[in-house]
Amino acid sequence: MRIRGELVLAIVCYIMVLTGCGPTEQKSVPPSWAVTPRVLYERNCAVCHGARGEGTERGTMKVPPLNSGAALNDPDEKFLKQISEGGNGMPPFKYTLDDQQIEDLVRFVREEIQKK
Ligand code: HEC
Repeated sequence: MRIRGELVLAIVCYIMVLTGCGPTEQKSVPPSWAVTPRVLYERNCAVCHGARGEGTERGTMKVPPLNSGAALNDPDEKFLKQISEGGNGMPPFKYTLDDQQIEDLVRFVREEIQKK
């Protein structure tokens, strides 16, 4: 019986930890897994490609739209490479984003920006 009581206590503690009871830590920045592709896009891409992927001109640099033109027909592999490696004025993102986030961004461009 004694064992069982301890077991219950252990489980209750475990649940409290999981649900965030107990000492709370003030977090202002959400953990990376909580950052949605939309937020990633707004933070990293919208400045150049526009909030809806309409493209912009930044000084002398013409940033192509993602919601029209060549981007509609370019394959995912080209997108993945461009986002990872950058090039022609676009910075590489492989140092700041992981593979999953880059794949999520490609999906975001297809589904939310191109509505494919
Ligand atoms: C500093 C401005 C800048 C930022 C920031 C930027 N890009 Fe780009 N992006 C460009 C330019 C310029 C090109 C065109 C490169 C070329 O002509 O080869 C481009 C090209 C692309 C392409 C290829 C489009 C096609 O037609 O094949 C994709 C996809 C893309 N960017 C996605 C993104 C995503 C996703 C982000 C955010 C993670 C991002 N870009 C951030 C400037 C930027």
